[in-house]
Amino acid sequence: MTTPNSHPNEARQRTLRAAGIDPNRVPEHVAVIMDGNGRWAKRRGEERVFGHAHGVESVRATVEAALESGVRFLTLYAFSTENWNRPKDEVDALMDLLVQTLVQEAMELGSKGVRLRAIGDVDSLPKACQEQLERVKEGPEGEVHLDLVLALSYSAKWEMVEAIRSMMNDDLTPEQILPSTIDGYLQTADLPDPELMIRTSGEHRISNFMLWQLAYAELHFTSVLWPDFRMSHFFDAIRDFQNRERRFGALPQSTKTS
Ligand code: IPE
Ligand code: IPE
Ligand code: MG
Repeated sequence: MTTPNSHPNEARQRTLRAAGIDPNRVPEHVAVIMDGNGRWAKRRGEERVFGHAHGVESVRATVEAALESGVRFLTLYAFSTENWNRPKDEVDALMDLLVQTLVQEAMELGSKGVRLRAIGDVDSLPKACQEQLERVKEGPEGEVHLDLVLALSYSAKWEMVEAIRSMMNDDLTPEQILPSTIDGYLQTADLPDPELMIRTSGEHRISNFMLWQLAYAELHFTSVLWPDFRMSHFFDAIRDFQNRERRFGALPQSTKTS
């Protein structure tokens, strides 16, 4: 079954091949650190919030690109635990923008087969945000093409502390704790680990994002500031991913055969 907005598989494959992407080796889960909004605004002599507002268009473009390329899970780091330390004006504006965007985009996302949810300390968000997140959680009526995961008031260390507390509350014995047990206690329990992580704005760091889940992810850094990020940049990242040799600690393919 296809929704009215989804592309027939063949057309999508043609688009991808034209962009130099192998449709059969697209990462299942892509995670993005959306960074550089403040600098983008500053360069234009505007307030930081102006950059955040323009970042919404990049979110749209990235969701489109994920749908177009057949990525099944897209996680966007939208607000970190540490971002609460920013000036109150900026935090309030970001929260308002989140509510507005959820209100405006929910229908459109649903019609495209996008299911939205949040990871992070959702209880710490303003009530209006929580209500909107609750409202969109149902997802589309038809087939789900993409799970869009917003990391909100999220940090990996917060998530790990929560996981450890839950394991202790459940009286797990030390022997019961395996890597797979921890997987199951994280916010991402039902998601595959991201195979590709993209960070914009030229910063080469993880900033407390999915420290556990990114263990073997390929990292793609681009100097593009988030409000300038578009579908072609997402495709660049996928191409970069497809040119990497993923080894997972084993010997390279070339060594094995020689
Ligand atoms: C990313 O842009 C958005 C959030 C962290 C909420 P920034 O606001 O960090 O912009 P820069 O990095 O200061 O340019
Ligand atoms: C990471 O960006 C968090 C998000 C994009 C939500 P920051 O701008 O907060 O990270 P640092 O401070 O440069 O490490
Ligand atoms: Mg930043």
